[in-house]
Amino acid sequence: MVQQRKRIAIIGAGPSGMAALRAFKAAESSGAEVPDVVCYEKQDDWGGQWNYTWRTGTDRNGEPVHSSMYRNLWSNGPKEALEFAEYTFDHHFGRPISSYPPREVLWDYINGRAMESGVKESVRFAHAVRRVEFDEPAERFTVTVDDLRRKTTLTEVFDEIIVATGHFTFPNVPDFDGIETFPGEVIHAHEFRGAERFADKRLLLIGGSYSAEDIGIQSHKMGARQVTMSYRSGPQGFAWPAGVDEVPQVQRFDGSVAHFVDGQSREFDAVVLCTGYLHHYPFLPHDSRIDSPNNLYPDGLYRGVTWQRNPRLHYLGAQDQWFTFNMFDAQAWFVRDVILQRFTLPDAEARQAHIDEWKRKYAAVVDDDAAVRFQGDYIRDLIELTDYPMFDLDEVVETFLAWKADKKVDILTYRDKVYRSVMTGTMAAVHHTAWMDELDDSRERYLSTPVGVGAQPPR
Ligand SMILES: Cc1cc2nc3c(=O)[nH]c(=O)nc-3n(C[C@H](O)[C@H](O)[C@H](O)COP(=O)(O)OP(=O)(O)OC[C@H]3O[C@@H](n4cnc5c(N)ncnc54)[C@H](O)[C@@H]3O)c2cc1C
Ligand SMILES: NC(=O)c1ccc[n+]([C@@H]2O[C@H](COP(=O)([O-])OP(=O)(O)OC[C@H]3O[C@@H](n4cnc5c(N)ncnc54)[C@H](OP(=O)(O)O)[C@@H]3O)[C@@H](O)[C@H]2O)c1
Repeated sequence: MVQQRKRIAIIGAGPSGMAALRAFKAAESSGAEVPDVVCYEKQDDWGGQWNYTWRTGTDRNGEPVHSSMYRNLWSNGPKEALEFAEYTFDHHFGRPISSYPPREVLWDYINGRAMESGVKESVRFAHAVRRVEFDEPAERFTVTVDDLRRKTTLTEVFDEIIVATGHFTFPNVPDFDGIETFPGEVIHAHEFRGAERFADKRLLLIGGSYSAEDIGIQSHKMGARQVTMSYRSGPQGFAWPAGVDEVPQVQRFDGSVAHFVDGQSREFDAVVLCTGYLHHYPFLPHDSRIDSPNNLYPDGLYRGVTWQRNPRLHYLGAQDQWFTFNMFDAQAWFVRDVILQRFTLPDAEARQAHIDEWKRKYAAVVDDDAAVRFQGDYIRDLIELTDYPMFDLDEVVETFLAWKADKKVDILTYRDKVYRSVMTGTMAAVHHTAWMDELDDSRERYLSTPVGVGAQPPR
């Protein structure tokens, strides 16, 4: 009997799905027999969050808009911390660039690697996965997909599934007493596309994490009159510029006035809920969905990727993210090797013991520095099991710690700093324009050498 090639479905062609495509291609290029891999991507192009759209709400097919990125988003961590070990920035750009590129430039980088691998033909764009069902006796999945261009629904059968749909799309929207009486605009960070409209406005950002921080300083940069960030657990504690500050949790709204739990009240023109996102996988049965807050070790995943209750189902990028692109690579290479049976999965009991051991390690993480180290250790653990090139994870951890220190010194200038690549040893170039003065975030402008603008030393 002819043995049929295994069939693998990757759901989503963001950086994680693209990493999975690249991982299978790398095995194929080195002579391995690889399964038939199909990637379904509901958007017209790949890049996931990095595939920017001006739209909010629904797209032209009526699908929920995926990306939460905004026009003027620049990387919020140094690129040296996310660099692919086997496709470097030097290789892609041919010269040193700065450490904090804007989103178009990072899209260009991930697109370049995927194009070099020739994997685009494996992606079915404008295909939204609606349902994934597991047939236990047959040990196969039936995947129901809408082809959004042809307006047809198809079902296909796969042996294993890789879920790579991200988890920063579906907003977490808490309620606040009286918020319905607020007369100005109230949006979630997912719908924020640019800070220009907040010029001269008094803005309240609810949340104490990256979205609040970055939308806050973007709005300051674009001339907001006052930016107030309201935290629940604790202040971010940066040395904010004049006109930006932090207050504790909102107690209630009364028209345009917000009252905070410390007794103070302020009047606002607009509110942005920077309250994070929900893990949401509507195409999976509930017993196959991650149900976790945004953290570094969501429950139910062996080595952070393989679904404990059904090890033919895998997730990529499900963790909260210090590391990003190179972590997705480590995960993708590992999942590929599970699928290729280069790595033999232990039995359920041993897998659970491993999950429990890592959950204990995670429970001992007390601060951000320990969290970065934890994620570095997690990635090392995966890479050691695969042929993904090992890189100096301790040095990347140091880069993260230096980045955190830079932010503490000056939240407006940390993006002007430069770091050395652990992959190539190349020192990043100082960008031609300081971040606070740069109002054009395009790739063209970024890669240009503007007349009369010399490289500026970090402020
Ligand atoms: C506002 C914001 C800013 C960020 N900034 C940075 C940064 O500066 N640096 C950094 O390293 N990381 C940043 N990140 C983190 C970001 O999550 C990762 O960089 C990366 O995009 C995650 O990749 P992913 O492939 O796991 O998920 P995503 O990028 O979310 O991609 C998931 C893909 O799945 C597709 N999809 C979803 N559902 C379906 C379906 N049912 N059928 C078919 N396709 C589907 C989507 O269309 C999308 O293309 C940011 C995230 C956000 C939200
Ligand atoms: N490149 C960039 O510049 C950039 C910009 C924005 C976002 N990002 C990325 O986007 C991802 C998501 O970041 P995020 O900040 O949106 O989400 P997040 O990191 O998950 O943080 C969510 C925040 O919302 C708060 N929150 C939740 N429920 C609340 C409630 N009921 N009341 C008050 N506060 C509440 C949380 O407070 P607690 O701490 O109390 O839980 C936390 O501070 C990250 O990976 C980040 O790096 C990057």
